[in-house]
Amino acid sequence: QATTPDYRGIYHFSPAKHWMNDPNGMVFFDGEYHLFFQHHPFGTTWGPMHWGHAVTRNLIDWEELPVAIEPDEHGTIFSGSAVVDTNNTTGFFPDGPGLVAIFTHHLERPGMPTVQTQSLAYSRDKGRTWNKYEGNPVLKREGWPDFRDPKVFWHEKTRQWIMVLACGQIVSFYRSPDLKNWTFGSDFGDGIGSHDGVWECPDLFELPVDGDPSNSRWVLLVSIGDNGSGKEGSRTQYFTGDFDGETFMPDEASREVRWLDHGRDNYAGVSWSDMPAEDGRRLYVGWMSNWRYANSTPSDGWRGAMTLPRELTLETVCGVETLMQRPAREVEAARVPVLESENVSLSELREALKPLRLDAFELEVQAQAGRSFGFRVREGKRCGTSVGFDADELYIDRSEAGESGFYEHFADRHSASTAAFATSAQKTRPESEASEASGQADAAVAFDTRLRIFVDRSSVEAFEGDGRLAMTDLIFPEPEADRLSVFGDEDGMVFRTVAIRKIQSSAG
Ligand code: FRU
Repeated sequence: QATTPDYRGIYHFSPAKHWMNDPNGMVFFDGEYHLFFQHHPFGTTWGPMHWGHAVTRNLIDWEELPVAIEPDEHGTIFSGSAVVDTNNTTGFFPDGPGLVAIFTHHLERPGMPTVQTQSLAYSRDKGRTWNKYEGNPVLKREGWPDFRDPKVFWHEKTRQWIMVLACGQIVSFYRSPDLKNWTFGSDFGDGIGSHDGVWECPDLFELPVDGDPSNSRWVLLVSIGDNGSGKEGSRTQYFTGDFDGETFMPDEASREVRWLDHGRDNYAGVSWSDMPAEDGRRLYVGWMSNWRYANSTPSDGWRGAMTLPRELTLETVCGVETLMQRPAREVEAARVPVLESENVSLSELREALKPLRLDAFELEVQAQAGRSFGFRVREGKRCGTSVGFDADELYIDRSEAGESGFYEHFADRHSASTAAFATSAQKTRPESEASEASGQADAAVAFDTRLRIFVDRSSVEAFEGDGRLAMTDLIFPEPEADRLSVFGDEDGMVFRTVAIRKIQSSAG
């Protein structure tokens, strides 16, 4: 019998053993980023949920800790969030700030309807041990079988805790002075957004627009469960709007469905709570899988990985406030340069890539706009994954990426349109640049295709133009598939910059 290759990422978090799905309880406290996660500590498929736990100081090297929260008489432990109770609003922390986890208790009993309620656990020792609150559950809603995934944050303007949680195909907002007593605020979601599946794992946060703190908007993330139809399976949409502590009022742009990621494998992602004010970033990770096949991907004792930690920003793109994502800058510290070059033609680059052998790396290029080109990553005798631009779309083609027999539509090509960006780049380019370039045709416009690709043992993450588009896909190549090649429609096309860097965690 063939053994499963080592698909465990070099620089992506995955549990050493057993099953993982959603990221949970992400909170920054005392120099550590905590990541809890939906975990089945006795099996490699979904089962009775616990909260697994890992910490990192640099967003690359993760230390997995023992299971943090276990099932009890109220049920198993579904997704949720964690906060620092700085002002001891709960009374749990007479001796200084500690952590509170707010999660869903999921209770199934024979012959009875399933019940989901919200509960608390707290830790006085930096998340190492947890006590359940004796007043659990703290929030119930009769008649709602899907009532889960609380994301809680402190709303400074109204000086109270806000909870957003998923209820069927809407989200609901609640408020509380102490995390124990909750008052209903409002519902959001009827008649807006995608309703292709059950709504799960919402997140709500405020971001400055184009970095201007005097002009901010609220972003609402909503993951959508797999309803079994279509090819996409589970994915995440986002809305922009305003939030006053009670109601979310969507912007005009939110009338159209907007996806956070255009690949198949970025689900249930939420952001870190309690980032230090002087840092101010909104950092995010998602679960790199899809409920369509999550339980049947190749496994040798562990299953499930997270995306790279990404920084989310709100930037005006073609006149629309758009959620952008870039890998957190900490990732850069783990890079080792392999090849750096400027103004190389496609044929020169083709030669330069031939000797390279890489399985975990970053590739960053800036190329002439409007050309079709791409890279084959994790290329071997029988496999290779293409990532690139074709006319006006960004794509990842994993139809020959390696193992795919576990799901009939896994071997496929995923794409997202870049047409709107191309038009706007031409329109908005300043006169000065255009005239400087006169004589060399439209050279100033010509180099604005930017692509950043992060490849690991079983994943590809592609970012277009500073993160206007993100695309995340799992791949399962043969282990010896470590070649990289470039292709394009014109041998003479020019890459203004090319950088290839190996990425390694200090552990590996
Ligand atoms: C999303 C989800 C959540 C739920 C958890 C259960 O992937 O279905 O809604 O809390 O997974 O593991």
